[in-house]
Amino acid sequence: MCGIFGITLEKRKPVGKLLTDALKHLEYRGYDSVGIAVTDGKKSFLRKGVGFVSDVALEKRFEELDGIAGIGHTRWATHGEVKEENAHPHQGCRDVLFVVHNGILENYLELRDFLIKRNHVFRSETDSEVIVHLVEEFGANEEGLKKVLSLLEGTYAFVVLTKDGTLLCARKGSPLVVGKFEEGVVVASDPIPILPYTKKILRLGEGEYCIAKGRKLLYRGSQQPKTVSWSERSAELGSFNHFMEKEIEEQPLVLKNLLAWLRDDSPDRILHGRIHLIGAGTSYHAALYGEYLLRKAGYDARAFIASEYTYWKGEDPDIVIAVSQSGETTDVLEALKDYEGEIIAITNNPLSSLASLSERVFLLNAGPELGVAATKTYTAQLTVLYYLTTGRIPENLPSLVYESLIRNKEAVKGVVEVLKDRSSVYYLGRGLNVVTAKEGALKIKEIAYIHAEAYPAGESKHGPIALVENGFPVVFVMPKDETYKDSLSNLEEMLARGAKGIVVGNEPPEQPVMFLSIPYTKDPRLNPIISVLPLQLLAYKLSVARGYNPDRPRNLAKSVTVK
Ligand code: M6R
Repeated sequence: MCGIFGITLEKRKPVGKLLTDALKHLEYRGYDSVGIAVTDGKKSFLRKGVGFVSDVALEKRFEELDGIAGIGHTRWATHGEVKEENAHPHQGCRDVLFVVHNGILENYLELRDFLIKRNHVFRSETDSEVIVHLVEEFGANEEGLKKVLSLLEGTYAFVVLTKDGTLLCARKGSPLVVGKFEEGVVVASDPIPILPYTKKILRLGEGEYCIAKGRKLLYRGSQQPKTVSWSERSAELGSFNHFMEKEIEEQPLVLKNLLAWLRDDSPDRILHGRIHLIGAGTSYHAALYGEYLLRKAGYDARAFIASEYTYWKGEDPDIVIAVSQSGETTDVLEALKDYEGEIIAITNNPLSSLASLSERVFLLNAGPELGVAATKTYTAQLTVLYYLTTGRIPENLPSLVYESLIRNKEAVKGVVEVLKDRSSVYYLGRGLNVVTAKEGALKIKEIAYIHAEAYPAGESKHGPIALVENGFPVVFVMPKDETYKDSLSNLEEMLARGAKGIVVGNEPPEQPVMFLSIPYTKDPRLNPIISVLPLQLLAYKLSVARGYNPDRPRNLAKSVTVK
């Protein structure tokens, strides 16, 4: 959840500015508060506050700090409310040691009691603060660090900064990656802020640590650096207003690149036996899509919400297909904890925990996705699942997706006007279109804060229809596939009760509805990849029209690394 960045340098540099730039790239991981600590080797400085990176950095003058090392943090609160004292970095009793942490320490109360008895004074309510006091207690060196690690229970990725410019870094459960460049060492919770420094990035293994100072890196672990193919420019906003807008528009290109990667692959005989698919949020919707396709192709497949998996799964399957764009979602990793069979990962992050524990990894190659609402990684996930099931490369898919995008950029504006002041909306579809309805509804909830419920259209008459009165908006996902006729009947039922019908389809029905047009495909299995575009655009434009920032939805973070 939280974003961590640290840097050590051979020579003095504008570290405050480097940290601010890096934190802007990490803001999608959490944005309730932000802070940095910088040292010039003799004096250290701590600055932090509640709010977005750019605002706090300006107010607290982050960029005026020069030095030889520093750490920074963007927070998504777990322990302790959102206030300045709880923002990271936390300092020890004196201003010589600072820590930034991501994760949850389960035994922090116990450790806190122990430290208070040893006369340590705590300033925050967070679990994280115990780390810096423990380092203070046992020594800011390799031996001290090892002792501290032996005492911590729970999950962590942390970086401790000492006054002489050393970084003590460790991880368990939460990710931490490291890169060396000509002038120093950088460490972060994900590769994106490291890309301007190097593309050769090492992911610390579970329970491992490293120590950096200047250009030196002490690492005794088992991992090798990997080259990340993302360009550093792909994390820039360019001429777009929001990352979500940029990522929606990138989809035709992302899919074109993905198909090129897949063309070099061979899916033959990967799938066999009983298959479970797991995922959370949008990635669960992708898992549902996979279930549908696999079952139709004759496989014994079932999709599960990752956090529910252990309760519902029954006997272990032969294969788990784990879908997660970040590859770090705790619910997904927990679901796989005791599983001993084969894992196929579908992820956008080659350095992720999920990638490292899977036999087979399908990379989405979508470039960094910084909008909290998943868009391009979703259509890429569906494309991989289509390919895995059918073995086919749908050559015309990028152009169909492009067409869907172009047709709807302006067209959704009318629907935005209708939904703008509504508090509730239904999303209905049948068969594979239920998946799209669910994804469309999730997008609206996440970024436009409108209550949206998705139902199989036929099921709507068994209860949900009771809420429908004059003007109640109902979005129907109904391309011309096997579900079309039955969906039309459900549309009639809704209209007869005064609903405002909004149809996503291949041709406008005769009924008086608003219509969002998507191109026709002969292979209906591709429909969810095409029909989600207008729904993504609708959610995005609705969010903006209602005065929100779609990239920073309240209470959410891009990668959810807590239970
Ligand atoms: O990184 P993951 O794909 O595992 O993330 C899963 C969900 O947290 C994620 O899809 C979430 O629902 C998004 N904000 C959806 O837009």
